[in-house]
Amino acid sequence: MTDDAPIDVVVIGAGAAGLMCAITAGERGRSVLLIEHSAKVGNKILISGGGRCNFTNLDVGASNYQSENPHFAKSALSRFTPQDFIDRVERKGIAYHEKTLGQLFCDDRAHQIVNLLLDDARDAGVEIWTKCSVTHIEKSDHFTLSTELGEVQAHSLVIATGGLSIPQMGSTSFGYDVAKQFGHTLTPCAPALAPFTLTPTDRETYTTLSGISTPVAVSCNGQTFREALLFTHRGLSGPAMLQINSYWRPGQSIEIDLLPEHTLSTLIAEWKPEQPKAQIRTLLSHHLPKRLVRLWIENSEYDKAINQVTPSDIEALSALFHHWILKPAGDEGYAKAEVTRGGVNTNELSSKTLESNTTAGLYFVGEVVDVTGWLGGFNFQWAWASGYCAGQYA
Ligand code: FDA
Repeated sequence: MTDDAPIDVVVIGAGAAGLMCAITAGERGRSVLLIEHSAKVGNKILISGGGRCNFTNLDVGASNYQSENPHFAKSALSRFTPQDFIDRVERKGIAYHEKTLGQLFCDDRAHQIVNLLLDDARDAGVEIWTKCSVTHIEKSDHFTLSTELGEVQAHSLVIATGGLSIPQMGSTSFGYDVAKQFGHTLTPCAPALAPFTLTPTDRETYTTLSGISTPVAVSCNGQTFREALLFTHRGLSGPAMLQINSYWRPGQSIEIDLLPEHTLSTLIAEWKPEQPKAQIRTLLSHHLPKRLVRLWIENSEYDKAINQVTPSDIEALSALFHHWILKPAGDEGYAKAEVTRGGVNTNELSSKTLESNTTAGLYFVGEVVDVTGWLGGFNFQWAWASGYCAGQYA
């Protein structure tokens, strides 16, 4: 690929979406060059899912994604389904399991997914350049790219450079800059799926709970997630908090139901005839971490026997445990966010091909697009699906 004839497809960014796009285009017989500025491809795949890569989810729908256009992702998601990726995983004999809520993880390590993609890329004839930055792009009847390894011409150009999260993994604003260069608008970007930080006062109050995890239902802006909450030394994390973080906006409060499987008034009514002298904190400790119960109840006005609890106590306790309103100080930002919310405006892309409406032959795939998935394999599924769809046309 060093002569002057344009390559059919150049893909910039060798993450999940870029690799899948390059493979798909290569499998169609297109000449493909994949350019990655890091030393390795698939860096985020390697660290994903705690090193086991939650590579998809069994139950994927547009409602698992945020976007200014909530219908945009439907087309791609329906044309490359979780089963399509599972087929690739099974063909390579990679063992996997469902952890919870349809989330599929490798039994062994995430590098198996990267190896799968590298094998398929090699079989599809994809050339990969690592440690190569693109410094300039121009468009005439084709694209001309200035890169650290020389000039490259391409008929189609696919931008798969991801979002801004975890800058130390190679994230850059490159994709957004290219979008702007070619007349696209961006929906505002922000960290998403990030842990919350607490105000100094709350942090001091809850620091003793660091390390405790408990199932909750957490709500904000009309969205509710029932998953685990983890108290950390800096704030609140765990899947429930990461999920709701994507819906939360700075300055807002979140509402936490610490007893999502129960109704406290019913529990009290059930215990009362059986164990009237039992302490309310004993009852609560059957369903909640003891340290949390101790923090909130010990030496409080509610630290009493069940037969002494008044209706107004029950009301106050229910408000406390079912409707804990907490105003986070903020979140951990791009340094800890799993994804970037917002991105290339979907109104300016074809939902079928991911091609730009402003520039023929230019495509945007994966996280750089304003499509943000929930925690649980949805972001990789979007990366595979959008990469695949662009690869069908690029
Ligand atoms: P991605 O960021 O993967 O790839 C972009 C590539 O472009 C990178 O290789 C980058 O180096 C390269 N690049 C950037 N700028 C460039 C430039 N100027 N020139 C050349 N190359 C450039 N999702 C999920 O579904 N299941 C999971 O288990 C997890 N787990 C997880 C853990 C952690 C810690 C993080 C941070 C994220 C996850 N995610 C996840 C989210 C998932 O990793 C993410 O949504 C996808 O990797 C997005 O794929 P993309 O290919 O779009 O971008």
